[in-house]
Amino acid sequence: MYSDGKLDAPGIETHRNDSVPEDVMLVYSADDLPIFYSSDKDLGLAAFRMATPDVELQKRWLDIHTSVVVEGPDLKKLKSSLDDVTKELIQPYFGFVEKTNEIMSTKNIRLVIKRIDDQMCPLFHVDNLKLRFLVTMKGKGTQWLRKEDTIHKNLGKGGKKPIAKPDVYLQELQEGQVAWLKGSGHPSSKGLVHRSPAVNPTLGETRLFFRADFF
Ligand SMILES: [Fe+2]
Repeated sequence: MYSDGKLDAPGIETHRNDSVPEDVMLVYSADDLPIFYSSDKDLGLAAFRMATPDVELQKRWLDIHTSVVVEGPDLKKLKSSLDDVTKELIQPYFGFVEKTNEIMSTKNIRLVIKRIDDQMCPLFHVDNLKLRFLVTMKGKGTQWLRKEDTIHKNLGKGGKKPIAKPDVYLQELQEGQVAWLKGSGHPSSKGLVHRSPAVNPTLGETRLFFRADFF
């Protein structure tokens, strides 16, 4: 039986080491973002490490929120609509979001700060957007497939047919890693094939992420 997208997919191992597959462009600073955007790479990964927000700040946010979602055409207005603790939580990353916003014509932006206690999107898919800025501040990062490991024709079939080729490595972003994912709305990319990682709530696993979706 096809089990792609389930927690126990046989024949697929998760790859968490630091080697960089060909599908990735390393982003050394925000100045590299225009190059990434017009490149043929589907995933931009920050070559630098950033400290995740400290545990105390995360706890203050988690004490009063599970999810904050704001959407609109004006990034400044979106930021000013956030409460103080949310602003403080995402402040270290916001310069990247502003820079990302500058490099393309965006009709709409959605900012999402969310706590996840289960596997949000278990099936491999491509998102319908131009570009996503993403950082998982706590917990496992998004899982993705290299182009050569993907059976593209099986996308969007509701998980009935395998999307990952047999015996491939599943790539996984790491906690704190800053990433940019292209979506199907990108003018010259089909977008990155990805899914949410499995989270085991019985072990008390929780994820906390911040993403900015550009449409
Ligand atoms: Fe997605």
